[in-house]
Amino acid sequence: MDTVDLKATARRLVARGKGILAADESSPTIKKRFDSIQVESTAANRQAYRELLFTTEGADAFISGVILFDETLRQTSADGTPFPQLLDDRGIVPGIKVDQGAKAMAGFPGEKITEGLDGLRGRLDEYRQLGARFAKWRAVITIAHALPSDANVQANAHALARYAALCQEAGLVPIVEPEVLMDGDHDIARCETVTARTLQSVFDALFHQRVDLEGMLLKPNMVISGLACPEQADVESVAARTVHLFRRVVPAAVPGIVFLSGGQSSLVATAHLNAMNVLGPHPWELSFSYGRALQEDTLKAWGGDPGRVAQAQKIFHHRSKCNGAARYGEYRPAMEDEAA
Ligand code: 13P
Repeated sequence: MDTVDLKATARRLVARGKGILAADESSPTIKKRFDSIQVESTAANRQAYRELLFTTEGADAFISGVILFDETLRQTSADGTPFPQLLDDRGIVPGIKVDQGAKAMAGFPGEKITEGLDGLRGRLDEYRQLGARFAKWRAVITIAHALPSDANVQANAHALARYAALCQEAGLVPIVEPEVLMDGDHDIARCETVTARTLQSVFDALFHQRVDLEGMLLKPNMVISGLACPEQADVESVAARTVHLFRRVVPAAVPGIVFLSGGQSSLVATAHLNAMNVLGPHPWELSFSYGRALQEDTLKAWGGDPGRVAQAQKIFHHRSKCNGAARYGEYRPAMEDEAA
């Protein structure tokens, strides 16, 4: 795979009006989601739910790529079509989560370091053969009293850059995800400071590891108030502060920034993306790679009942369409009235 393909894939993932569906919940995470709707997390239920998402009629107008978990990449639709092929046939790029989770960092209580570099080169080759064209690695940075430590930020940035270099060697576009968590009562200014520090470390590491910025995407948190902060910044402030910071720290060579939702409600995540695009044009595409904010309502509508698939797909289509509109800064809350 040459770099031209990497760049073309990265640009396809941030095509106008489209974004990424993160459906790569690991086994423990999807169990948590299924617990919330009282559905047992069996391989068959996970397959049925993912098939519901991937076969939603018309969603391909707003969804450019889907991030899968290892198990899902190897599963098929009810008619026996491998999921990566099913997506590819619909013009959606299949991707794969390749990190092995954020684990407690030795010597740094309360902080996490993402594992998964050992043996990664071999796993990437297999994933590419199975049809994946991009990958994701998530690092988490925790805000608390005196946290994050420099050591934690740097170790996570280093791992992200090593992962990204291996992906590009294997012909996969790396999505580089340093997530500064929303948990805590910190205010938006603190989030801004920590996000700035984190992104500076990440781009420093990417530069040192010779990662081609034109063949990758950044998946960051927005600059936002902590979940338990008594003073919640409004949509316009989140948009203005996020765009202002990113213009200072994210090189224009990066084709796109695909935000995570990180615990924001579906409507708020759409409103934030819209408000940022209203402030454009920007040097990069500003898009979404939402997990919870795209799936929450769909999951509830489905509830594990095969008889409710069509209704759940209608809701997934609606949410995707609203986020597609937010890519142009053309989302209006009135669009929600069209929801089923
Ligand atoms: P959320 O949008 O639910 O944060 O998920 C995105 C993701 O892929 C986290 O790694």
